Amino acid sequence: MANSTFTSSTRDIPDVSGVPRHIAIIMDGNGRWARKRFMPRVAGHGRGVEAVRSAIRGCIQRGVSYLTLFAFSSENWRRPADEVSFLMQLFIRSLQKEIDRLHENGIRFRVVGDLTRFDAPLVELIRTAEARTADNDKLTLTIAANYGGRWDIVQAVERMLAKYPEQRGSFSEEQLSAELSLNYGPEPDLFIRTGGEQRISNFLLWQLAYSELYFTDTLWPDFDEAALDDAIRSYRTRERRFGRTSEQLCQTVDRAAAVKAGTDPLPADPGAHA
Ligand code: IPE
Ligand code: IPE
Ligand code: MG
Repeated sequence: MANSTFTSSTRDIPDVSGVPRHIAIIMDGNGRWARKRFMPRVAGHGRGVEAVRSAIRGCIQRGVSYLTLFAFSSENWRRPADEVSFLMQLFIRSLQKEIDRLHENGIRFRVVGDLTRFDAPLVELIRTAEARTADNDKLTLTIAANYGGRWDIVQAVERMLAKYPEQRGSFSEEQLSAELSLNYGPEPDLFIRTGGEQRISNFLLWQLAYSELYFTDTLWPDFDEAALDDAIRSYRTRERRFGRTSEQLCQTVDRAAAVKAGTDPLPADPGAHA
């Protein structure tokens, strides 16, 4: 599978470190940020772009490899037409303005979501930016645009069925996850939602299976590098058990120390990765 290099959290135990390899964020609270200042909601979206810049910079400096940002959900079409159109224009303008800088900073840019509802020039802009930055490896920045977790699973099932027309009835998780739109990266270690709501809002339904969830009241335009550090600090306090017991984890840690010290009394255990 395209993601065979990445461990499935339900099949194997992923490597875990103090720095999340992949952070996924629901950037919420732009409208409330603006309203609090008696400004139109869209002014909050404008300020939200600055917070995106800061999150990208922060992730690069902290050694995060994948950053996935929810910019527009499949349900956001239900918003007033002028807000939807503002968001589209903002996306186009920001991409045009930032793409050189993203590329210079070694960022691989990707967009996930159902692009069929976007105008051809925007799709062209996205594809060109993706192709241009495809070989960069400092940070993979994914923008989820017209994205829905359910859409993603349905399109993956369709692609899987088309790929294996002869295979009936017994598909594996790996075959399905290989067709999901984030098949080029690991599952998120850390999920952040700003703006105070504690829900997933149809974001990465499959991939969040074992992510650590972090909710903050901070509104997205106020989410700066210090706020990112708070989230990462919280992440570091979590015990990621992936179904195991706490005692097993302690044994694994003791064992890792013993291996390092050259005093490991046990034969190699192919099942234990963490
Ligand atoms: C998130 O901010 C941005 C998008 C959904 C595009 P909101 O616009 O949802 O802001 P609130 O939740 O109304 O404050
Ligand atoms: C989720 O925010 C989508 C994005 C941030 C793009 P919403 O503000 O649209 O979520 P709900 O509708 O309050 O759950
Ligand atoms: Mg919102």
